[in-house]
Formats: sequence, structure tokens, C-alpha cells
Amino acid sequence: MSTFPQARPRRLRTTPAMRRMVAQHHVRPADLILPAFVREGIREPVPVSSMPGVVQHTRDSLRKAAAEAAGAGVSGIMLFGVPAAKDAVGSAATDPDGILQVALRDVRAEVGDELVVMSDLCLDETTDHGHCGLLDAEGRVDNDATLERYAEMAVVQAEAGAQVLGPSGMMDGQVGFVRRALDAAGHTEVSLLAYTAKYASAFYGPFREAVNSSLQGDRNTYQQDPANAKEALRELALDLAEGADMVMVKPGLPYLDVLQRVADAVDVPVAAYQISGEYAMVEAAAEKGWIDRERAIAETLLSFKRAGADLILTYWATEAARRL
Ligand code: PBG
Repeated sequence: MSTFPQARPRRLRTTPAMRRMVAQHHVRPADLILPAFVREGIREPVPVSSMPGVVQHTRDSLRKAAAEAAGAGVSGIMLFGVPAAKDAVGSAATDPDGILQVALRDVRAEVGDELVVMSDLCLDETTDHGHCGLLDAEGRVDNDATLERYAEMAVVQAEAGAQVLGPSGMMDGQVGFVRRALDAAGHTEVSLLAYTAKYASAFYGPFREAVNSSLQGDRNTYQQDPANAKEALRELALDLAEGADMVMVKPGLPYLDVLQRVADAVDVPVAAYQISGEYAMVEAAAEKGWIDRERAIAETLLSFKRAGADLILTYWATEAARRL
């Protein structure tokens, strides 16, 4: 038997005030970024059935959602555009009047500098085949041809007012290529939030509905294999060398180990993206009465902070911020 008094960690759990006093991690509204979808050619918001509570916005409803997010203290909004017409090269992505660019201008006009306005830099929302890049004659995603498109998109998005771009296509060299294009066009102040470790995940399912994706097949030749952890550190080193200002791990919950490794390794802000399927799981279980929705949401958000995230992209951003 030890001669020391018995350790009793439960002493610090006795009351809500005591637990609040010793709480190590906190989620603040400013940690949260709201991903939002805007669709061209609709008159009313269209609910995303696999993401109860999430809609494809009209231009007007997006402005309203951005203002509400800002009012709740959320720090950023990440925009995804869904064009009325898609084609093989994703023409809408580089059209200055494409829906994403129009929405960027709308949101900047609505919220000014109250909210950091960000945009997804990827082709899958605008291509008819649904891939994140251009396809070669054999139907494979052509890395270097895709980089040229990303460079054009970056400049068009920056010109529309995006303050942060999120290259999410997992092409090799995308961060450096986009950085050079932005700088050459004079957009040196536009930041890059690199999707550094992005895994080929089943949990993107509901997102496909949210962007009316017609993807056949999978993204296994460009997104990371869930079996690999160290590879994330290789992607991280490349993104930092290429000029990433912030880095992201995605999805969130199934990759908390990767998030922690990345957070431990860098001195730039680290984001976690709580993706569509993570949202859908909690909403579906809550709808069935199987879990306590609000507690589950709070617990997932805290798990990202515990693993070392500075920022969290979550479809619950506005709601969660209001409760914090
Ligand atoms: C690519 C992109 C995707 C998501 C964000 N950016 C889809 C994919 O990689 O398949 C998924 C987000 C989510 O599921 O919530 N443009």
C-alpha cells in the first residue's frame, strides 16, 4: 500500500463551476467557419435531404446566412458554387459571372470585413463528370493540365473578392502553382488554406447531393488512402514549402490522429473539416432519438480542439456559435 493519500481526480469534477474552472479546451465562435452552398437558377433555397437543416442557397438566402453567421460571431464562410450547367472542363469555375464568383461578390458586399470570405478551389462542382480535375484521353485525372485550370480559377475568385482560397482537389503541386498565379496577378494578400491531408472518404456522400454531383467511380487516385497516416506529413511538408498559409485535415472525426500529428508538427493555423457525412450521422441518430443532438455536436467540436485544431469548418457553425 502506498503511504501517499489516495489520488482522487473526481474532486475536480464535483460541480459545474469546478469543471468549468479546470476545463482545458474551449470552442470559441471565432474558431468556427461555415461551409455554404449556393446554386444558380433557383428561386427558393433547396433543402439537402441527406443533411437536414442544410440548403442549397439562392443568392439572397446566402447573403442572409452570411449575415447571421457574422452576427453569431463565426469567423469565416467557405463558399461552394453549384452552376446550372456543367461541362468537361468546368467552364463555370473560371467565368467571372459563374455562380461562385457572383456569390463571392454578394457576400463581400453583405458582410464587408466582418467575416473572412473563402471559396473552394476545385473543379468537381462544375464538371459534368464530377472529378476534381480535367480528364485525359484515357479518362484519368490529368494533374498538370488541372493545375492550369486551378491557376485561372484562383485569379477569378480573388478578383471576385475571396480573401482565402481552399485548394481541395489534391493535385500534386497545387498550392505552389496557385500561389504563383495569384502573386503574378497582384493578389499577394489572398491566403491559401490548403486541404493538406484529404482522404478518399465515404463520409463525403451527402456533399454529392449538396453540389448535384454526377460523379461515377471514386477519387482514389488523387485523395489519400485511409490506411495511410505518415503520408499526411509528406503532404504537409510539400504544402508548407509551396506557401500554404493554413493547413487542413479532412474529414474530421475519423482522422483525429492525423489532425493531432499535423497540429503537433506546424506553426501555422490548422483547420479540421467536419464534413457532410459526419453532420448527417449525428442528425440522423438524433432524429431517431438515439443520441442527444446538442451534446453530440458540442462533443465533436471539442474533440477537434483537443486534437489541436485552431479552426473548425462545420455546417453547425452558426447554431453552435450562438450557444457558446
Ligand atoms: C471538393 C470538396 C469535397 C468536399 C469539400 N470540397 C468533396 C470531395 O472531395 O469529394 C466535401 C465536403 C463535405 O463532405 O462536407 N470540392
